Amino acid sequence: MDSLLSWLFSSQEDELYILDLMAYFMVFMAVCTFFSLLFQNVPYGRYASSVYGFPVNVKFAWFIQEMPSLFLPLALVLWTSSAKTSLLPNQLLIAMFLCHYFQRTLIYPFLIRGGKPTPFASFALAFVFCIYNGYMQIRYLSHYAEYPAYWVSHPCFIAGSCLWLVGWLMNIHSDHILRNLRKPGETGYKIPRGGMFQYVSGANFLGEITEWAGFALAAHSIHSSAFAIFTTVVLTSRAMAHHKWYINKFEDYPKSRKALIPFVI
Ligand SMILES: NC(=O)c1ccc[n+]([C@@H]2O[C@H](COP(=O)([O-])OP(=O)(O)OC[C@H]3O[C@@H](n4cnc5c(N)ncnc54)[C@H](OP(=O)(O)O)[C@@H]3O)[C@@H](O)[C@H]2O)c1
Repeated sequence: MDSLLSWLFSSQEDELYILDLMAYFMVFMAVCTFFSLLFQNVPYGRYASSVYGFPVNVKFAWFIQEMPSLFLPLALVLWTSSAKTSLLPNQLLIAMFLCHYFQRTLIYPFLIRGGKPTPFASFALAFVFCIYNGYMQIRYLSHYAEYPAYWVSHPCFIAGSCLWLVGWLMNIHSDHILRNLRKPGETGYKIPRGGMFQYVSGANFLGEITEWAGFALAAHSIHSSAFAIFTTVVLTSRAMAHHKWYINKFEDYPKSRKALIPFVI
């Protein structure tokens, strides 16, 4: 894998420059996505449409599309001369990323109950995004990111890691609640209750946003911040859309529940 990277980049400065450019481009794409989501929901799940290509089985789609975020980072860590993987801050940050994508790739897809097929375009875009982001996050952390020795005891690292953990648990718990709304074989929608759903319609999205915001605080880089910004844009829009959808669909939808931030919006 080292020879592939040295074929792609003439020097380490070159690769780092490209990694930085990728992060700035992701921020640019987040801005474009923000504007496009004002007119159109991301077309999968309840908003899936045949306009965006043929339907892909939902479990297959999640498993394949998320796979690059797990296996590409693993390959970078195991099969390249990654210069920074012996350092504790880098190890912990890489572990957070891998932990999330282990669950998302190897567990989440196989637990889905009655999920709608994913249109091919959404599936393909998610797959490309996972290659892009998996490489950008983990190549930076495994080979370039330099933290001072005291970084793991710095308030930013501690607060960021705690936020990451709280967000991850909230995300997993909320997805678990959603899944259990359906009996095996059912495909319809019910009002989610319990956990953070008592406060917001997008509890799973709030968890994921918190998680990557915490990761960005702990990692303190443009690469991790770009991912947190992108996630926030996509999932805020999805939470708002779901909230509106629930209010229109269920007359008895809890009036005090907000879309994404408890007691606020
Ligand atoms: N980092 C990122 O940028 C990013 C982007 C997208 C998603 N994600 C994460 O991926 C996970 C799934 O995202 P998603 O957009 O698919 O979430 P979602 O729209 O909430 O759906 C999650 C699953 O629960 C089912 N479901 C949702 N609401 C339900 C209800 N009221 N009653 C019964 N079943 C219900 C859905 O079925 P249907 O398919 O039939 O709707 C789907 O199988 C989340 O944890 C999210 O945070 C992350």
